[in-house]
Amino acid sequence: MTHTHLLQKVGVEGLVEVAPEIFRLRVRNEVLAGRAQPGQFVNIRVTDGFDPLWRRPLSVHDVDRQAGTVDFLFAVVGRGTRLLSQVRPGNQLDVLGPLGNTFPLFPQRPAVLVAGGLGLAPFLFFARQLAAAQVQTTLLYGVRSTTQLVSTEAFQRLGVHVELATDDGSEGLRGTAADLLRRALPGLPEDAVVYTCGPLPAVRAVARVLAETPRRAYASLETRMACGLGACVGCVVRMRRRTPDTPAYKLVCKDGPIFDLEEVDLEA
Ligand code: FES
Repeated sequence: MTHTHLLQKVGVEGLVEVAPEIFRLRVRNEVLAGRAQPGQFVNIRVTDGFDPLWRRPLSVHDVDRQAGTVDFLFAVVGRGTRLLSQVRPGNQLDVLGPLGNTFPLFPQRPAVLVAGGLGLAPFLFFARQLAAAQVQTTLLYGVRSTTQLVSTEAFQRLGVHVELATDDGSEGLRGTAADLLRRALPGLPEDAVVYTCGPLPAVRAVARVLAETPRRAYASLETRMACGLGACVGCVVRMRRRTPDTPAYKLVCKDGPIFDLEEVDLEA
């Protein structure tokens, strides 16, 4: 399958270090801003050369369709993201996207967004969609320390109820986003829908909490991606095989990044 029709040149509008080593990148491209849906991602080629070779998959953090801008959140974790943290307004980036599936929306049911660290990234755009649909929304957001918290006011401005947790207890509950979910579950309506995103251990922890008190739940597993293009098979995820027709494995970049939490086997 070719993605050439999704290749866009985007201009850098701005780059802000919103927390230590965490950046919000804003790019302008009306096609991308018009097409992107909550939960989707793009692949950004970091340099014009072949080094680093792979594109970086980044989930769409926010979109302003009128302004034609798209925001991404990323942490500096290696050479590719270090290079990305050095772009300047006016630079052109080569972006492939939007890619991937989207968060399912249930207009009549409360939504609970459970984010560990940069797992927050896809939820601001989704919270905007939920607010437009008048869905009652809660964000349960866990980070290492208070300095790592980003975008919380933007969620509050959308009317989202925000609860925080930090590993070091510097703000909110001392613990993780999964601990916030465990605390919140008894008070959540039966029909609440849980959406989670974060590093695999964080998503697994959420799945374990939900195994005790089941709710309909979806997980964005995009952080497992490497190439993001179906080329490296580095994002394979094992499926629970309820029927012989269910494939044993799927690719996060091609089949996801969002999966019904009951369908994936995160303990594998
Ligand atoms: Fe390479 Fe999915 S990330 S195949």
